[in-house]
Amino acid sequence: MLLQNTSSSLIDTLRHRRQQLASLINFPAILWSGGSNPRNFPSNRFPFRASSNFLYFAGMPLPNAVIRLEAGKLELFLDDPQPSSALWHGETPSREEIAQNIGADAARPMAELESWVEGAATIAVQDAATWTQQSQLLNRWVLPQNPPQGIDLELTKAIISLRLTHDAGALVELRKAAAVSVEAHKAGMAATPKAKLEAEVRAAMEAAIIAQNMTTAYNSIVTVHGEVLHNEHYHHPLQPGDLLLADVGAETELGWASDITRTWPVSGKFSSTQRDIYNVVLAAHDACIAKVYPGVEYGEIHLLAASVMAEGLVDLGILQGNPQELVEIDAHALFFPHGIGHLLGLDVHDMEDLGDLAGYEEGRKRSDRFGLGYLRLNRPLQPGMLVTIEPGFYQVRAILNDPQVRSKYQNVVNWERLSQFSDVRGIRIEDDVLVTETGREVLTAALPNDANTIEDLVGG
Ligand code: GLY
Ligand code: MN
Ligand code: MN
Repeated sequence: MLLQNTSSSLIDTLRHRRQQLASLINFPAILWSGGSNPRNFPSNRFPFRASSNFLYFAGMPLPNAVIRLEAGKLELFLDDPQPSSALWHGETPSREEIAQNIGADAARPMAELESWVEGAATIAVQDAATWTQQSQLLNRWVLPQNPPQGIDLELTKAIISLRLTHDAGALVELRKAAAVSVEAHKAGMAATPKAKLEAEVRAAMEAAIIAQNMTTAYNSIVTVHGEVLHNEHYHHPLQPGDLLLADVGAETELGWASDITRTWPVSGKFSSTQRDIYNVVLAAHDACIAKVYPGVEYGEIHLLAASVMAEGLVDLGILQGNPQELVEIDAHALFFPHGIGHLLGLDVHDMEDLGDLAGYEEGRKRSDRFGLGYLRLNRPLQPGMLVTIEPGFYQVRAILNDPQVRSKYQNVVNWERLSQFSDVRGIRIEDDVLVTETGREVLTAALPNDANTIEDLVGG
Protein backbone atom coordinates (compact mmCIF):
# COMPACT_ATOMS: atom_id res chain seq x y z
CA MET A 1 0.00 0.00 0.00
CA LEU A 2 1.27 3.43 -0.92
CA LEU A 3 1.96 5.79 1.90
CA GLN A 4 4.10 8.81 1.48
CA ASN A 5 4.07 11.69 3.86
CA THR A 6 1.37 13.79 2.33
CA SER A 7 2.45 17.38 1.86
CA SER A 8 0.72 20.05 3.92
CA SER A 9 -0.44 21.74 0.71
CA LEU A 10 -2.17 18.53 -0.40
CA ILE A 11 -3.85 18.25 3.01
CA ASP A 12 -5.00 21.87 2.67
CA THR A 13 -6.34 21.13 -0.82
CA LEU A 14 -8.25 18.10 0.48
CA ARG A 15 -9.71 20.10 3.39
CA HIS A 16 -10.78 22.86 1.03
CA ARG A 17 -12.55 20.33 -1.25
CA ARG A 18 -14.43 18.87 1.73
CA GLN A 19 -15.49 22.33 2.86
CA GLN A 20 -16.71 23.15 -0.61
CA LEU A 21 -18.74 19.95 -0.65
CA ALA A 22 -20.19 20.87 2.75
CA SER A 23 -21.39 24.18 1.32
CA LEU A 24 -23.34 22.30 -1.39
CA ILE A 25 -25.06 19.49 0.55
CA ASN A 26 -26.63 19.23 4.00
CA PHE A 27 -26.41 15.45 4.45
CA PRO A 28 -23.42 13.12 4.92
CA ALA A 29 -21.64 11.55 1.94
CA ILE A 30 -20.00 8.13 2.14
CA LEU A 31 -17.50 7.27 -0.59
CA TRP A 32 -15.93 3.86 -1.09
CA SER A 33 -12.49 3.43 -2.67
CA GLY A 34 -13.26 -0.08 -4.03
CA GLY A 35 -11.04 -3.12 -4.24
CA SER A 36 -9.00 -4.92 -6.85
CA ASN A 37 -10.58 -7.60 -9.00
CA PRO A 38 -9.25 -11.16 -9.17
CA ARG A 39 -7.46 -11.91 -12.42
CA ASN A 40 -7.34 -15.69 -12.88
CA PHE A 41 -7.49 -16.86 -9.26
CA PRO A 42 -8.27 -15.03 -6.04
CA SER A 43 -4.76 -14.10 -4.97
CA ASN A 44 -3.62 -13.06 -8.47
CA ARG A 45 -5.35 -9.73 -8.95
CA PHE A 46 -5.59 -6.84 -11.41
CA PRO A 47 -3.81 -3.73 -10.21
CA PHE A 48 -5.93 -1.72 -7.80
CA ARG A 49 -7.35 1.63 -8.96
CA ALA A 50 -9.22 3.62 -6.31
CA SER A 51 -12.50 5.21 -7.35
CA SER A 52 -12.02 8.76 -8.54
CA ASN A 53 -14.60 10.32 -6.23
CA PHE A 54 -12.79 8.77 -3.27
CA LEU A 55 -9.43 10.00 -4.57
CA TYR A 56 -10.76 13.52 -5.01
CA PHE A 57 -11.50 13.90 -1.30
CA ALA A 58 -9.11 11.38 0.31
CA GLY A 59 -6.12 12.12 -1.94
CA MET A 60 -4.63 8.66 -1.52
CA PRO A 61 -5.30 5.35 -3.31
CA LEU A 62 -6.24 3.22 -0.30
CA PRO A 63 -7.83 -0.13 -1.17
CA ASN A 64 -10.97 -1.25 0.67
CA ALA A 65 -11.38 2.07 2.45
CA VAL A 66 -14.38 4.31 3.01
CA ILE A 67 -14.61 7.99 3.86
CA ARG A 68 -17.56 9.71 5.44
CA LEU A 69 -17.79 13.41 4.76
CA GLU A 70 -20.04 15.66 6.79
CA ALA A 71 -19.86 19.41 7.44
CA GLY A 72 -16.29 19.55 6.11
CA LYS A 73 -15.05 16.73 8.36
CA LEU A 74 -13.62 13.43 7.14
CA GLU A 75 -13.87 10.11 8.97
CA LEU A 76 -11.84 7.21 7.62
CA PHE A 77 -13.11 3.63 7.84
CA LEU A 78 -10.35 1.13 7.23
CA ASP A 79 -9.22 -2.14 8.74
CA ASP A 80 -5.70 -2.51 10.00
CA PRO A 81 -3.82 -5.20 8.06
CA GLN A 82 -3.93 -8.77 9.36
CA PRO A 83 -0.68 -9.67 11.20
CA SER A 84 0.01 -12.31 8.49
CA SER A 85 -0.11 -9.72 5.71
CA ALA A 86 3.35 -8.39 6.62
CA LEU A 87 4.81 -11.64 5.25
CA TRP A 88 3.37 -11.08 1.77
CA HIS A 89 2.95 -7.33 1.58
CA GLY A 90 5.53 -5.96 4.01
CA GLU A 91 4.85 -3.62 6.90
CA THR A 92 1.89 -1.39 6.12
CA PRO A 93 0.96 1.75 7.96
CA SER A 94 -1.74 1.62 10.59
CA ARG A 95 -5.19 3.14 10.19
CA GLU A 96 -4.19 5.95 12.55
CA GLU A 97 -1.08 6.78 10.54
CA ILE A 98 -3.02 6.85 7.31
CA ALA A 99 -5.73 8.99 8.88
CA GLN A 100 -3.10 11.50 9.93
CA ASN A 101 -1.63 11.51 6.44
CA ILE A 102 -4.87 12.49 4.78
CA GLY A 103 -5.90 14.95 7.48
CA ALA A 104 -8.83 12.80 8.71
CA ASP A 105 -10.78 13.94 11.77
CA ALA A 106 -11.45 10.37 12.95
CA ALA A 107 -10.50 6.81 12.05
CA ARG A 108 -12.58 3.70 12.70
CA PRO A 109 -12.60 0.01 11.72
CA MET A 110 -14.90 -1.03 8.87
CA ALA A 111 -17.20 -2.93 11.24
CA GLU A 112 -18.37 0.43 12.63
CA LEU A 113 -19.43 1.79 9.26
CA GLU A 114 -22.95 0.39 9.49
CA SER A 115 -23.66 2.63 12.49
CA TRP A 116 -22.77 5.71 10.41
CA VAL A 117 -24.75 5.23 7.20
CA GLU A 118 -28.07 6.76 8.30
CA GLY A 119 -29.19 9.48 5.89
CA ALA A 120 -26.01 9.27 3.83
CA ALA A 121 -25.66 9.56 0.07
CA THR A 122 -23.13 7.72 -2.06
CA ILE A 123 -21.92 7.14 -5.62
CA ALA A 124 -21.58 3.63 -7.04
CA VAL A 125 -18.10 2.17 -7.37
CA GLN A 126 -17.33 0.00 -10.42
CA ASP A 127 -16.28 -3.29 -8.82
CA ALA A 128 -19.07 -5.69 -7.96
CA ALA A 129 -17.86 -6.59 -4.47
CA THR A 130 -17.95 -2.93 -3.51
CA TRP A 131 -21.28 -1.94 -5.05
CA THR A 132 -22.80 -5.01 -3.44
CA GLN A 133 -21.51 -3.78 -0.07
CA GLN A 134 -22.76 -0.25 -0.81
CA SER A 135 -26.22 -1.60 -1.65
CA GLN A 136 -26.36 -3.82 1.45
CA LEU A 137 -25.23 -1.16 3.90
CA LEU A 138 -27.44 1.59 2.49
CA ASN A 139 -30.36 -0.79 1.97
CA ARG A 140 -31.01 0.36 -1.62
CA TRP A 141 -29.60 -0.60 -5.00
CA VAL A 142 -26.39 1.31 -5.72
CA LEU A 143 -25.45 0.08 -9.17
CA PRO A 144 -22.86 1.64 -11.48
CA GLN A 145 -25.21 1.36 -14.47
CA ASN A 146 -28.25 2.91 -12.71
CA PRO A 147 -28.74 6.68 -12.83
CA PRO A 148 -28.51 8.04 -9.26
CA GLN A 149 -31.72 9.16 -7.55
CA GLY A 150 -32.69 11.32 -4.57
CA ILE A 151 -29.81 12.35 -2.31
CA ASP A 152 -27.40 10.23 -4.38
CA LEU A 153 -28.26 12.43 -7.37
CA GLU A 154 -27.82 15.58 -5.25
CA LEU A 155 -24.39 14.37 -4.11
CA THR A 156 -23.45 13.43 -7.68
CA LYS A 157 -24.35 16.89 -8.96
CA ALA A 158 -22.45 18.57 -6.12
CA ILE A 159 -19.30 16.54 -6.83
CA ILE A 160 -19.61 17.21 -10.56
CA SER A 161 -19.79 20.93 -9.92
CA LEU A 162 -16.49 20.68 -7.98
CA ARG A 163 -14.66 18.31 -10.31
CA LEU A 164 -15.65 20.15 -13.51
CA THR A 165 -12.97 22.76 -12.87
CA HIS A 166 -9.56 21.97 -11.43
CA ASP A 167 -8.02 23.54 -8.33
CA ALA A 168 -4.31 24.30 -7.93
CA GLY A 169 -3.64 20.91 -6.28
CA ALA A 170 -5.20 19.05 -9.19
CA LEU A 171 -3.29 21.12 -11.73
CA VAL A 172 0.05 20.24 -10.14
CA GLU A 173 -0.77 16.57 -10.75
CA LEU A 174 -2.27 17.08 -14.21
CA ARG A 175 0.85 18.95 -15.33
CA LYS A 176 3.04 16.10 -14.03
CA ALA A 177 0.99 13.56 -15.97
CA ALA A 178 1.15 15.69 -19.13
CA ALA A 179 4.93 16.14 -18.88
CA VAL A 180 5.56 12.41 -18.51
CA SER A 181 3.23 11.64 -21.42
CA VAL A 182 5.14 14.09 -23.60
CA GLU A 183 8.36 12.21 -22.82
CA ALA A 184 6.62 8.88 -23.53
CA HIS A 185 5.63 10.06 -27.00
CA LYS A 186 9.13 11.30 -27.75
CA ALA A 187 10.45 7.91 -26.62
CA GLY A 188 7.97 6.17 -28.92
CA MET A 189 9.04 8.24 -31.91
CA ALA A 190 12.72 7.67 -31.16
CA ALA A 191 12.17 3.91 -30.82
CA THR A 192 10.33 3.56 -34.13
CA PRO A 193 13.21 3.30 -36.64
CA LYS A 194 14.62 0.20 -34.92
CA ALA A 195 11.26 -1.36 -33.99
CA LYS A 196 9.80 -4.23 -35.97
CA LEU A 197 6.44 -4.48 -34.17
CA GLU A 198 3.90 -2.06 -32.71
CA ALA A 199 4.55 -3.78 -29.37
CA GLU A 200 8.14 -2.52 -29.28
CA VAL A 201 7.04 1.10 -29.65
CA ARG A 202 4.37 0.59 -27.00
CA ALA A 203 7.03 -0.85 -24.68
CA ALA A 204 9.29 2.19 -25.18
CA MET A 205 6.39 4.56 -24.46
CA GLU A 206 5.11 2.75 -21.39
CA ALA A 207 8.67 2.34 -20.08
CA ALA A 208 8.94 6.14 -19.92
CA ILE A 209 5.76 6.22 -17.85
CA ILE A 210 6.57 3.28 -15.59
CA ALA A 211 10.05 4.70 -14.93
CA GLN A 212 8.37 7.71 -13.30
CA ASN A 213 6.36 5.35 -11.06
CA MET A 214 3.21 6.22 -12.95
CA THR A 215 0.78 3.99 -14.80
CA THR A 216 -1.04 4.44 -18.07
CA ALA A 217 -4.36 6.24 -17.62
CA TYR A 218 -6.05 3.86 -20.10
CA ASN A 219 -5.02 1.00 -22.35
CA SER A 220 -2.47 2.37 -24.79
CA ILE A 221 -3.31 2.49 -28.48
CA VAL A 222 -0.16 2.03 -30.55
CA THR A 223 -1.12 0.82 -33.96
CA VAL A 224 -0.63 0.99 -37.70
CA HIS A 225 -4.40 0.44 -37.88
CA GLY A 226 -5.45 3.76 -36.38
CA GLU A 227 -8.80 3.41 -38.15
CA VAL A 228 -9.77 1.01 -35.33
CA LEU A 229 -10.51 3.73 -32.81
CA HIS A 230 -9.75 1.82 -29.64
CA ASN A 231 -7.35 -0.72 -31.12
CA GLU A 232 -5.70 -2.73 -28.36
CA HIS A 233 -3.61 -5.11 -30.47
CA TYR A 234 0.11 -4.61 -30.76
CA HIS A 235 1.21 -7.50 -32.95
CA HIS A 236 1.32 -5.86 -36.37
CA PRO A 237 4.70 -5.47 -38.06
CA LEU A 238 5.80 -1.91 -38.86
CA GLN A 239 6.16 -1.39 -42.62
CA PRO A 240 7.99 1.60 -44.12
CA GLY A 241 4.83 3.08 -45.73
CA ASP A 242 2.73 2.88 -42.53
CA LEU A 243 1.55 5.62 -40.26
CA LEU A 244 1.73 4.71 -36.58
CA LEU A 245 -0.99 6.17 -34.35
CA ALA A 246 -0.08 6.32 -30.65
CA ASP A 247 -2.70 7.36 -28.08
CA VAL A 248 -0.85 7.00 -24.76
CA GLY A 249 -1.25 8.92 -21.51
CA ALA A 250 0.22 8.73 -18.03
CA GLU A 251 -1.65 8.71 -14.72
CA THR A 252 0.06 10.01 -11.58
CA GLU A 253 0.29 8.04 -8.36
CA LEU A 254 -2.64 10.06 -7.02
CA GLY A 255 -4.75 9.18 -10.04
CA TRP A 256 -4.64 12.27 -12.30
CA ALA A 257 -4.63 11.57 -16.04
CA SER A 258 -3.32 12.84 -19.34
CA ASP A 259 -4.32 11.83 -22.85
CA ILE A 260 -2.13 12.47 -25.91
CA THR A 261 -2.25 11.17 -29.46
CA ARG A 262 0.34 11.64 -32.14
CA THR A 263 0.58 9.98 -35.53
CA TRP A 264 3.92 9.56 -37.24
CA PRO A 265 5.37 7.85 -40.30
CA VAL A 266 7.23 4.62 -39.55
CA SER A 267 9.87 5.53 -42.15
CA GLY A 268 10.38 9.01 -40.70
CA LYS A 269 8.89 10.60 -43.86
CA PHE A 270 5.22 11.24 -44.58
CA SER A 271 4.15 10.38 -48.13
CA SER A 272 2.55 13.33 -49.93
CA THR A 273 -0.95 11.88 -49.40
CA GLN A 274 -0.26 11.25 -45.72
CA ARG A 275 1.10 14.76 -45.30
CA ASP A 276 -1.93 16.29 -47.04
CA ILE A 277 -4.42 14.60 -44.74
CA TYR A 278 -2.20 15.15 -41.69
CA ASN A 279 -2.28 18.87 -42.39
CA VAL A 280 -6.08 18.87 -42.67
CA VAL A 281 -6.35 17.21 -39.23
CA LEU A 282 -3.75 19.61 -37.82
CA ALA A 283 -5.67 22.61 -39.20
CA ALA A 284 -8.81 21.38 -37.40
CA HIS A 285 -6.79 20.77 -34.21
CA ASP A 286 -5.23 24.25 -34.27
CA ALA A 287 -8.49 26.04 -35.11
CA CYS A 288 -10.29 24.27 -32.25
CA ILE A 289 -7.57 25.05 -29.71
CA ALA A 290 -7.59 28.71 -30.76
CA LYS A 291 -11.33 28.78 -30.06
CA VAL A 292 -11.04 27.49 -26.48
CA TYR A 293 -12.17 30.38 -24.31
CA PRO A 294 -14.45 30.76 -21.27
CA GLY A 295 -18.11 30.79 -22.29
CA VAL A 296 -17.56 29.09 -25.65
CA GLU A 297 -19.79 26.07 -26.20
CA TYR A 298 -17.73 22.89 -26.59
CA GLY A 299 -20.31 21.72 -29.15
CA GLU A 300 -19.38 24.75 -31.28
CA ILE A 301 -15.75 23.65 -31.14
CA HIS A 302 -16.79 20.22 -32.40
CA LEU A 303 -18.69 21.82 -35.29
CA LEU A 304 -15.67 23.99 -36.07
CA ALA A 305 -13.54 20.84 -36.37
CA ALA A 306 -16.17 19.36 -38.67
CA SER A 307 -16.12 22.48 -40.89
CA VAL A 308 -12.33 22.67 -41.10
CA MET A 309 -12.15 18.97 -41.91
CA ALA A 310 -14.85 19.34 -44.59
CA GLU A 311 -13.07 22.35 -46.14
CA GLY A 312 -9.76 20.53 -46.19
CA LEU A 313 -11.25 17.40 -47.72
CA VAL A 314 -13.00 19.50 -50.39
CA ASP A 315 -9.67 21.19 -51.17
CA LEU A 316 -8.10 17.75 -51.58
CA GLY A 317 -10.94 16.67 -53.88
CA ILE A 318 -12.12 13.90 -51.54
CA LEU A 319 -15.43 15.61 -50.69
CA GLN A 320 -17.41 17.61 -53.22
CA GLY A 321 -19.73 20.52 -52.45
CA ASN A 322 -20.08 23.42 -50.05
CA PRO A 323 -18.25 22.57 -46.78
CA GLN A 324 -21.00 23.99 -44.57
CA GLU A 325 -23.67 22.02 -46.38
CA LEU A 326 -21.49 18.91 -46.18
CA VAL A 327 -21.32 19.29 -42.38
CA GLU A 328 -25.11 19.68 -42.25
CA ILE A 329 -25.51 16.27 -43.88
CA ASP A 330 -22.71 14.79 -41.69
CA ALA A 331 -20.45 14.04 -44.66
CA HIS A 332 -17.39 14.96 -42.53
CA ALA A 333 -18.38 12.18 -40.11
CA LEU A 334 -17.65 9.56 -42.77
CA PHE A 335 -14.01 10.26 -41.91
CA PHE A 336 -14.29 11.92 -38.46
CA PRO A 337 -16.94 9.81 -36.74
CA HIS A 338 -16.18 10.70 -33.10
CA GLY A 339 -16.46 13.80 -30.92
CA ILE A 340 -13.75 16.46 -30.74
CA GLY A 341 -12.88 15.40 -27.18
CA HIS A 342 -13.94 15.18 -23.56
CA LEU A 343 -13.30 16.30 -20.01
CA LEU A 344 -10.00 15.17 -18.48
CA GLY A 345 -9.15 14.90 -14.78
CA LEU A 346 -9.00 11.95 -12.43
CA ASP A 347 -10.53 9.89 -15.22
CA VAL A 348 -9.33 10.02 -18.79
CA HIS A 349 -12.96 10.60 -19.78
CA ASP A 350 -13.57 12.50 -16.60
CA MET A 351 -16.64 11.41 -14.62
CA GLU A 352 -17.91 9.18 -17.42
CA ASP A 353 -18.91 6.71 -14.68
CA LEU A 354 -21.79 9.15 -14.14
CA GLY A 355 -23.10 8.75 -17.69
CA ASP A 356 -23.67 12.14 -19.30
CA LEU A 357 -24.43 13.95 -16.02
CA ALA A 358 -20.97 15.54 -16.04
CA GLY A 359 -20.42 15.87 -19.78
CA TYR A 360 -23.79 17.34 -20.66
CA GLU A 361 -25.26 20.57 -19.30
CA GLU A 362 -28.54 19.88 -17.49
CA GLY A 363 -31.43 19.53 -19.95
CA ARG A 364 -29.20 18.55 -22.89
CA LYS A 365 -29.22 15.12 -24.46
CA ARG A 366 -27.04 13.27 -26.94
CA SER A 367 -27.89 14.04 -30.55
CA ASP A 368 -29.05 11.18 -32.75
CA ARG A 369 -27.12 12.70 -35.67
CA PHE A 370 -24.31 10.50 -36.99
CA GLY A 371 -21.89 13.42 -36.76
CA LEU A 372 -22.81 14.49 -33.21
CA GLY A 373 -23.90 11.39 -31.28
CA TYR A 374 -20.42 10.57 -30.00
CA LEU A 375 -19.83 14.03 -28.56
CA ARG A 376 -18.92 13.37 -24.90
CA LEU A 377 -18.96 16.98 -23.72
CA ASN A 378 -21.70 19.50 -24.39
CA ARG A 379 -21.29 22.45 -22.03
CA PRO A 380 -20.01 26.00 -22.13
CA LEU A 381 -16.32 26.11 -21.18
CA GLN A 382 -15.31 27.54 -17.80
CA PRO A 383 -11.87 28.58 -16.51
CA GLY A 384 -10.26 25.59 -14.80
CA MET A 385 -11.82 22.97 -17.09
CA LEU A 386 -9.39 20.63 -18.79
CA VAL A 387 -10.52 19.21 -22.11
CA THR A 388 -8.97 17.26 -24.93
CA ILE A 389 -8.96 18.45 -28.51
CA GLU A 390 -8.55 15.41 -30.74
CA PRO A 391 -9.72 15.59 -34.33
CA GLY A 392 -8.97 12.64 -36.57
CA PHE A 393 -9.33 11.21 -40.04
CA TYR A 394 -10.04 7.50 -40.47
CA GLN A 395 -10.92 5.21 -43.33
CA VAL A 396 -13.20 2.77 -41.53
CA ARG A 397 -14.23 0.00 -43.92
CA ALA A 398 -17.43 -0.70 -41.97
CA ILE A 399 -18.53 2.89 -42.62
CA LEU A 400 -17.19 3.50 -46.11
CA ASN A 401 -18.36 0.14 -47.51
CA ASP A 402 -21.81 0.26 -45.95
CA PRO A 403 -24.25 0.15 -48.89
CA GLN A 404 -26.61 2.69 -47.26
CA VAL A 405 -23.71 5.08 -46.62
CA ARG A 406 -22.44 4.57 -50.17
CA SER A 407 -25.79 5.42 -51.67
CA LYS A 408 -26.49 8.40 -49.35
CA TYR A 409 -23.07 9.95 -49.99
CA GLN A 410 -22.60 8.68 -53.55
CA ASN A 411 -22.27 12.17 -55.01
CA VAL A 412 -20.52 14.00 -52.20
CA VAL A 413 -17.50 11.70 -52.01
CA ASN A 414 -15.15 11.41 -54.97
CA TRP A 415 -14.52 7.71 -54.39
CA GLU A 416 -11.88 7.47 -57.07
CA ARG A 417 -9.92 10.36 -55.60
CA LEU A 418 -10.31 8.83 -52.14
CA SER A 419 -8.69 5.62 -53.39
CA GLN A 420 -5.46 7.57 -53.96
CA PHE A 421 -5.24 8.08 -50.16
CA SER A 422 -5.19 4.37 -49.30
CA ASP A 423 -1.95 4.79 -47.30
CA VAL A 424 -3.87 6.89 -44.76
CA ARG A 425 -5.84 4.54 -42.53
CA GLY A 426 -6.00 6.59 -39.36
CA ILE A 427 -4.62 9.91 -38.11
CA ARG A 428 -5.44 11.61 -34.80
CA ILE A 429 -3.76 14.54 -33.11
CA GLU A 430 -4.75 15.01 -29.46
CA ASP A 431 -3.71 17.57 -26.86
CA ASP A 432 -4.85 18.48 -23.34
CA VAL A 433 -6.13 22.05 -23.11
CA LEU A 434 -6.79 23.97 -19.91
CA VAL A 435 -9.40 26.72 -20.10
CA THR A 436 -7.98 29.85 -18.43
CA GLU A 437 -9.54 33.21 -17.54
CA THR A 438 -8.06 34.71 -20.69
CA GLY A 439 -8.23 31.79 -23.11
CA ARG A 440 -6.33 28.56 -22.91
CA GLU A 441 -3.11 26.79 -22.01
CA VAL A 442 -2.08 23.61 -23.82
CA LEU A 443 -0.63 21.41 -21.07
CA THR A 444 0.90 19.09 -23.66
CA ALA A 445 2.37 21.85 -25.86
CA ALA A 446 5.93 20.61 -25.29
CA LEU A 447 5.20 17.77 -27.71
CA PRO A 448 5.49 19.07 -31.29
CA ASN A 449 2.74 18.29 -33.76
CA ASP A 450 3.77 19.86 -37.06
CA ALA A 451 4.67 17.33 -39.74
CA ASN A 452 8.29 18.43 -40.24
CA THR A 453 9.19 18.34 -36.54
CA ILE A 454 7.48 14.98 -36.15
CA GLU A 455 9.65 13.67 -39.00
CA ASP A 456 12.75 15.02 -37.26
CA LEU A 457 11.79 13.39 -33.97
CA VAL A 458 11.26 10.01 -35.63
CA GLY A 459 14.49 10.29 -37.62
CA GLY A 460 15.25 6.99 -39.24
N1 GLY B 1 -7.54 7.82 -25.09
C1 GLY B 1 -8.94 7.75 -25.32
C2 GLY B 1 -9.45 8.99 -25.90
O1 GLY B 1 -8.70 9.72 -26.50
O2 GLY B 1 -10.57 9.35 -25.74
MN1 MN C 1 -9.08 11.59 -25.54
MN1 MN D 1 -6.59 9.66 -26.35
